Amino acid sequence: MNPSRRKFIKGISAASALVATQSVAKPFHIIRDLKKISPNDKIRIATIGMGIQGNYDTMAALRNPDVELVAVADLYTGRLQHAKTAFNPDLFTTRDYREILARPDVDAVLIVTPDHWHDHITIAALKAGKHVYCEKPMVQHINEGKAVIDAWKKSSKTMQVGSQRISSAAFQEAKRLVQAGEIGAINYIESNNDRFNSIGAWNYSIPTDASPETVDWDRFLGDAPKRPFDPVRFFRWRNFKDYGTGVAGDLFVHLITGVHFVTETLGPNRIFSSGNLAYWKENRDVPDIMTSIMDYPKTDKHEAFQMVLRVNFANAGKISNVTRIIGNEGQIEFSENNLILTKKKLPIAPGYGNYDSYFTFTEEVQREFVKQYDAKYPPETRTAEPVKEVKFEAPKDDDAHAKHFADFFANVRSGSQGTIEDPVFGFRAAAPVLAANESYFDNKVIYWDPVTMTKTAPPSTVTKKPASKGKSTVVAKKTVATTKK
Ligand SMILES: NC(=O)c1ccc[n+]([C@@H]2O[C@H](COP(=O)([O-])OP(=O)(O)OC[C@H]3O[C@@H](n4cnc5c(N)ncnc54)[C@H](O)[C@@H]3O)[C@@H](O)[C@H]2O)c1
Repeated sequence: MNPSRRKFIKGISAASALVATQSVAKPFHIIRDLKKISPNDKIRIATIGMGIQGNYDTMAALRNPDVELVAVADLYTGRLQHAKTAFNPDLFTTRDYREILARPDVDAVLIVTPDHWHDHITIAALKAGKHVYCEKPMVQHINEGKAVIDAWKKSSKTMQVGSQRISSAAFQEAKRLVQAGEIGAINYIESNNDRFNSIGAWNYSIPTDASPETVDWDRFLGDAPKRPFDPVRFFRWRNFKDYGTGVAGDLFVHLITGVHFVTETLGPNRIFSSGNLAYWKENRDVPDIMTSIMDYPKTDKHEAFQMVLRVNFANAGKISNVTRIIGNEGQIEFSENNLILTKKKLPIAPGYGNYDSYFTFTEEVQREFVKQYDAKYPPETRTAEPVKEVKFEAPKDDDAHAKHFADFFANVRSGSQGTIEDPVFGFRAAAPVLAANESYFDNKVIYWDPVTMTKTAPPSTVTKKPASKGKSTVVAKKTVATTKK
């Protein structure tokens, strides 16, 4: 290992101390560590946001060889103390993530904060020359995506977004099956993710020592509206749209990431949501029931399809969560980390009789009908291929989370910016869920251009009114958008 990298810098240098005192809004200057990471060097990581997922992400990252955790930033003192116990008593810990970015011994940061901090810290980290693993959804609002992509492109650093399930064996297999045409052309995707328990509805435990002393409340608020200290908002931030992205940003995004990975689509062009805050009404301003419909237009990779996503946190009935990708020759249904492929190809001959209009014809017409049918459909066109069911079971030790980090680290080492879920991919998956929220809150259909990654106006046709006395008027007529081509 390079001796200058081996040197663990205990305190922050004068230059980095200066950085740490600058405000979040101001750009700050870091001497970039331009050294390549050789295969023999450890990749030194720091976690920013050591809450629930910060712990899981860090453990998954460390299941890869030659990775070392050197620093942690968090806003609750108890979590900084816990990180030292859980990982390493010598960890550098701070409430100020800029102190992490200023450290030359940090190669890569894991950004595992609430959603409203993702874009700020990602952009600052890339500017500071750090490789970035950022949790999903990549940004909190649609208008924040482009700035992250630009910062990544300029940085020459590697970035991975953290919807780790696409690194599972099941998703890799689903992609293989879909790309091999095993289910024909996809026409519909459905998924529901219902729950009925308080923790499932994001009412996470609040530590008994939560106070303005143990929590850096002002920093937590960041660019969110100012308000007095509130431990519920800090520890259950998902329940509030100032900091989180609701069920869409928390749960729909995983499915959309999977669908985009499997189908190689760029995204939907029309998004509509309906929802309700039905049950967990206390201390929450996002819906606990939401359904979103997304229309994916035809591309050179796939036919047009529709996707319907649902979350119901108040489902006291029988919960059977399922994700199905349905094509015109079969379907893929996900179960835990496994999948079931059902193949069903229709015969060419349509058949007649049973519940059909055939019996309503006169005898003479029936005879003529059968004659023509027999001539048109020889026996070989009348049998369907038997329905086939193929189960794929992921290996017992399949560790999607560690593999997602492995892809990130492999690209860091090779000097490649791209990953399986780079920021362009990450934003194309995040934008539809953020649009789903906009649709719910603004009560409107959102139109999206998945190629340019921009919101668009509703499609319209221009019709000309008949000319009256030498004057012609152009009238824009709104139409219902359709994915049909
Ligand atoms: N990929 C997945 O499967 C998955 C699962 C759960 C959560 N997540 C994502 O991980 C992120 C964190 O979720 P969580 O459940 O761990 O939340 P959490 O509340 O448990 O942890 C968030 C931590 O971030 C810290 N924090 C907040 N602002 C900070 C800042 N400016 N600087 C440093 N630390 C800051 C808080 O102190 C807190 O400890 C979210 O974006 C969430 O969507 C992803």
